[in-house]
Amino acid sequence: MKRILRVVFVCMALSMFALPLAADEGPAHTELLTHAEIAQALNDGSVPLDVIRALGLSVFSTPFNTHDGFGDGPFDPAETDTAAFGHRPTLQGNGLSLRVNGLDAQSCNECHTIVSHRTHPPTVGIGGVGGVVQNAIIMPTLIDVADSFDDRVVFQPSHDPSLSLVFDGVADFNGRFANPPFLFGGGGVELLGKEMTQDLQDLLAVARSSTAGTVTSLDTHGVNFGSITTLDNAGNVQLDVEGIGPADIVGLDPEEVLVVRPFGRKGENFSMRDFDRGAMQFHFGIQPEEVIGAGVDEDGDGVTDEVTLGEMTALHVFDVTNPRPRRLPLGAKGQAGLQTFKDIGCASCHRPALRTRSRHLPLATPEIASEPFENVYAEINLRQVGFPSVPGGGLRVPLFSDLKRHDMGPRLAETFERGDLEQAEFITARLWGIADTAPYLHDARATTLYEAIEFHGGEAQGPRDAFLALSEAERDELIFFLGRLRVPDDPNVEIAEILGDILD
Ligand code: HEC
Ligand code: HEC
Repeated sequence: MKRILRVVFVCMALSMFALPLAADEGPAHTELLTHAEIAQALNDGSVPLDVIRALGLSVFSTPFNTHDGFGDGPFDPAETDTAAFGHRPTLQGNGLSLRVNGLDAQSCNECHTIVSHRTHPPTVGIGGVGGVVQNAIIMPTLIDVADSFDDRVVFQPSHDPSLSLVFDGVADFNGRFANPPFLFGGGGVELLGKEMTQDLQDLLAVARSSTAGTVTSLDTHGVNFGSITTLDNAGNVQLDVEGIGPADIVGLDPEEVLVVRPFGRKGENFSMRDFDRGAMQFHFGIQPEEVIGAGVDEDGDGVTDEVTLGEMTALHVFDVTNPRPRRLPLGAKGQAGLQTFKDIGCASCHRPALRTRSRHLPLATPEIASEPFENVYAEINLRQVGFPSVPGGGLRVPLFSDLKRHDMGPRLAETFERGDLEQAEFITARLWGIADTAPYLHDARATTLYEAIEFHGGEAQGPRDAFLALSEAERDELIFFLGRLRVPDDPNVEIAEILGDILD
């Protein structure tokens, strides 16, 4: 009965639209509902949320083809500026993928596929993590695959000559090598980030109107991001921030710096949609209408509006309504492990839960990083996706993170040449679901939880050393506790069925 009702809803909602077929001669994906239609549906309930989620799943799982605008456009061997957009390396000039710095997949779901690596066989599904083979290779400038030996210095960054790459008989690589995290629970994380950003911006406004010499502490949701000193009575301030903003904040507006960016392993994106705009371009060479403008063919491949505002909105709704990870009962052993986790300082970064003030995630377009509550076209009540409410109107987000970046020491440092983030800094990995998501750490170097902890350094050196100094039984309890943090059961199976109904 439920299924029939659902199908009726779907047909009512979508009967006027052409269905996206896996056509040989046309785009693999077309917009089914416009942005305005989705916004209206979210506000008046005229199309069920699950149908909009299914449309987002369709964007997430469709393998884009050249008719959709896949690729960077014509490859021009005569062009000498090889760093320009649209000139990423392709395999022997074939115009498509080398997997290096993007053009590395046709669909989002090619990389976010593994729901559980703990089950045997592994559970495959939608929105999960990737194994090491699904890692993205970001901005390398040198790969010494042949283990060459001729002592040529091929790369010597001026800021740190110790990162030089030499053809010295040792196979080398620079750049970033990033392992795909899952999307589960993303809505709660995005809401936290937006509320925290708003608080920091409000504190900045307070600091700007305070008297010279006032020090305003940057505290929000129980996390401290440093402080602001008021310099004069004209609103000038000096930031003394930690765990937020780019490496070099000199010359930046404080408004730009004080933005919590929960997404990406280095904490670079303030919303999932913000991440998706980059992902579309990086992985597929698909240019979002909202980035380059309607009707514009910036990459010269003959396709405009490669992914529309409506498709990106559906994708964002899918992102933020992914079900959240769950925690199995801890029992005495798990409780003891959690206690140790707190006692030795793991919880200072991996904060077991943060609370939101509201239950409603605001969705905006165009998005403004420092003004998360501007341009809001709809709100999603996150209780619908399983976040428990707390007294006072908010939600509990059991993420095991403080949403701050931390220096993790030289062993975990990356070696990218460009970009404005510190090489050794990463946002505190959220540990919810950790039991299912091996391999671990930003590049998937750790095959076990023990190794992941052992690799911690920098700001985490103390707790890491304390972990290694525990008795075997205590370590076992702590790992047992982490093993109770599981991914959601059968995530997105229901909306996959709805999508099937739409496409039938
Ligand atoms: C080639 C593999 C690959 C493909 C294809 C891919 N991703 Fe990812 N995804 C990653 C990696 C790697 C990261 C971590 C990136 C980083 O740390 O900067 C990531 C991170 C994310 C995040 C941030 C999650 C978080 O919690 O920080 C989101 C959201 C996301 N991807 C969505 C998408 C969407 C939407 C698409 C399709 C448009 C997509 N991904 C395609 C590999 C991939
Ligand atoms: C200073 C902050 C900090 C402290 C303290 C800390 N961690 Fe972490 N943890 C991080 C960051 C940042 C990462 C991500 C590092 C990376 O991706 O390379 C991480 C990653 C992890 C991971 C792997 C997550 C994944 O999805 O790959 C585990 C497991 C983990 N930490 C457990 C612990 C335990 C147990 C402790 C206490 C012994 C601890 N951490 C202490 C910041 C911290």
